[in-house]
Amino acid sequence: MIKYLGSKRRLIPDILTRVEALEGVNSVCDLFSGTSRVGQALKRTGRYVHANDHLAFARVLAETFVATDSHTVDYAALTDAIARLNRLPGQPGYFAQKFSEEAQFFQAENAARMDTIRQAIEKEPEELRPILLTSLMLAADRVDSTTGVQMAYLKQWAPRSFEPMVLQTPELLPGPGVATQVDALELAPNIDADLVYLDPPYNQHRYVGNYHVWETLVLNDEPETYGKANKRIDVRTRPSVFNQKRTAREALAELIGSLRCRYLLLSFNDEGYVSLPEIEAMLGAWGEFQATAIPYRRYVGASIGIHNREGEKVGQVSHLHNHEWLFVAKRSR
Ligand SMILES: C[S@@+](CC[C@H](N)C(=O)[O-])C[C@H]1O[C@@H](n2cnc3c(N)ncnc32)[C@H](O)[C@@H]1O
Repeated sequence: MIKYLGSKRRLIPDILTRVEALEGVNSVCDLFSGTSRVGQALKRTGRYVHANDHLAFARVLAETFVATDSHTVDYAALTDAIARLNRLPGQPGYFAQKFSEEAQFFQAENAARMDTIRQAIEKEPEELRPILLTSLMLAADRVDSTTGVQMAYLKQWAPRSFEPMVLQTPELLPGPGVATQVDALELAPNIDADLVYLDPPYNQHRYVGNYHVWETLVLNDEPETYGKANKRIDVRTRPSVFNQKRTAREALAELIGSLRCRYLLLSFNDEGYVSLPEIEAMLGAWGEFQATAIPYRRYVGASIGIHNREGEKVGQVSHLHNHEWLFVAKRSR
């Protein structure tokens, strides 16, 4: 899976234990799906999953890992397509210029192959495209030269960046599911699921800025860029209300208040804009709830250190652990 800030990989066993303890949870909506890891884990338990995120690359990951039923995939066509894409020679284009020459996210050879492969995917059958795009994203992520976010690239090439980029067949899961790309506040009142899992951003860092290369790779729209990292110009104009201190608390209260599901599961980070008592008040108004604090290693950047845009270490991280709270709520209305 791609490196992702706030990924709940290590929290999945705790999430599953809590869901298994509830009665009658056959369908789940992962409303801020990101990598869709949580949705995938729930799909593996046989539940019907709806994964949603407002970013295009996250929708593609969800289309692959949540909405695709592996039983319906033409594996012969998929493996043929992946082998064909892997054989394509690199032809430098937008990606090579923006993300290798000007900003050193990828080595020239790999970036040129990203250009060729991205264009070639457009000519593949429609039902294979999300899977092939996912395969390309995962392959590019394995040879990038970052600390795990795309706000900056490393000053010295990461050792992994010297490896040739190789697309692999993603591991697909059996069973139906659905993937959408809708603003969470807009979708919330219309969600048809027994349980909704909420994992909103908790601070000012916009995911579209942190992962702008994936958004551009998926949208294939060759946008105008700004800054040293060549971020998409629309990073400035695609805010999330959850990334602004002024609006985050009210947005979360509105979101929770509009959910009509039977159960709600919420991940909450104690370093965020919304305080613990504020969350408790929102959930108390919605139903009965239980909370657990789980000690958690902070985001990958915290252990790597604080770097400037040139990739130089510029500061000390104050602490490496915090608490991730898991709330389970049952609606009383
Ligand atoms: C903490 S991450 C989720 C991580 C995910 N649970 C995982 O394990 O990969 C928060 C996600 O919320 C998405 N997001 C932010 N604002 C949103 C909005 N208004 N509507 C829908 N998704 C949003 C971001 O794109 C990001 O992927």
